[in-house]
Amino acid sequence: MSNPVPDIRPNYFEANYDPEKITSYTLEDPLTFVNGQKVTDAGQWAARRREILDIFAGEMFGVEPPPPEVMVTELIDEKSDALAGYAVRSQYRMWFKADKSGPVMDWLVIRPRHATKPVPVILFLNFHGNHQLIPDEDILIPDMWSRDTPERKVFPDRGTMCDPNSNSTMPVGMLLSAGYAVMTACYCQVSPDPNSNETEERYRQENFAYTGVFDLWGKRDEGRMDNPTALGAWAWALSRGLELAGRIPEIDAGRNVVTGCSRLGKAALLAAARDERFAVCVPIQCGGGGATLAKRDFGENIATEMRMFSHWYCRAYKKYERNPAKLLTFDQHLLISAIAPRKVLIAGFDSPWFDTEGEFLACQAASPAWEVCGKPGFPQVPYPADYDTSAIGEYLGYYRRTEGHGIADYDWLRLLKFAGIPEF
Ligand code: GCU
Repeated sequence: MSNPVPDIRPNYFEANYDPEKITSYTLEDPLTFVNGQKVTDAGQWAARRREILDIFAGEMFGVEPPPPEVMVTELIDEKSDALAGYAVRSQYRMWFKADKSGPVMDWLVIRPRHATKPVPVILFLNFHGNHQLIPDEDILIPDMWSRDTPERKVFPDRGTMCDPNSNSTMPVGMLLSAGYAVMTACYCQVSPDPNSNETEERYRQENFAYTGVFDLWGKRDEGRMDNPTALGAWAWALSRGLELAGRIPEIDAGRNVVTGCSRLGKAALLAAARDERFAVCVPIQCGGGGATLAKRDFGENIATEMRMFSHWYCRAYKKYERNPAKLLTFDQHLLISAIAPRKVLIAGFDSPWFDTEGEFLACQAASPAWEVCGKPGFPQVPYPADYDTSAIGEYLGYYRRTEGHGIADYDWLRLLKFAGIPEF
């Protein structure tokens, strides 16, 4: 990391995979305000955290969308003896207008039937529809667009996440047995997520991505550099999910874990950074634009992100793409630090594109935020090998693994151990 930093990184629009070509960079101290003042105690951390969130709103994720004026939730279906009798499985529909017009979200909630007191909840957005969690003929299949099928329709296959051969699994029995409820909704209902090579006009990113809940926020001023983004919208939706959890008497919404994989891991990280009601955050394999450092030029970079996912980030972020190491005035360790003093476990994926070593370094650099709040910081261990859990601290942790890109049983188990398994 001793290479000099050029003004413009040559071929900055290509991903670098050569460790020798990583130029030097400096990371901002989480405990130093932009004006140079230092945070010296927990009391001052709130103001610095606010400053950090404002930087991310203005420069990367766009302004935070306002909470809805109203949120109407309705239990539309319930099975009291689901999963061989172990679970109560419910479906809730959510509207954001009193007259139930406009965008909706459908939440699937599965909770342990035999719990004698309110249970904590694990909450996440899914990619392909709630019906893929468990095989259950009554779970609604969203009638909507999907980026992964040529027909642009959600596949009607149920319970695919119960297939142990799948990259993303849902060991729902284990999670319920550990005393948690799980709840999920499909991210396409919030902001559909077209690929950058979409040719059909109405599905193009610049048109289609800003539908869904964006309809609540009025006409966009395209001249603005900090418009709300898809990642901001998904994070917003997670906060609404938490509010729904608060309306379910059998759930103790104060004890919650927000998770998600890849782009939905980025959303979970942003949600927990912005919304202090999230108690534990486990973003899984979230990589570039999530937990990994953008100044560290390895794998996915700001230029590839802005080219492929223009709707995930606001326009201001593009100004850093020619040389993040030199131009950026913030980095993702600050986003992680905005969760302090709450709990966050960064789950890495050992594929160069995701630069999980950058996630480990980001955790190291975020650690002072916990320490100033009187919590244990990041474990002082070397970069761990795959499946080595030595960097999982009590409040701030990290691990990485190989195998498929998705949330595997291994990740669910790490999540449970980190968040704690309650008595019930
Ligand atoms: C791409 C993208 C990543 C993202 C991933 C996903 O690989 O570059 O940033 O996390 O898609 O969401 O599957």
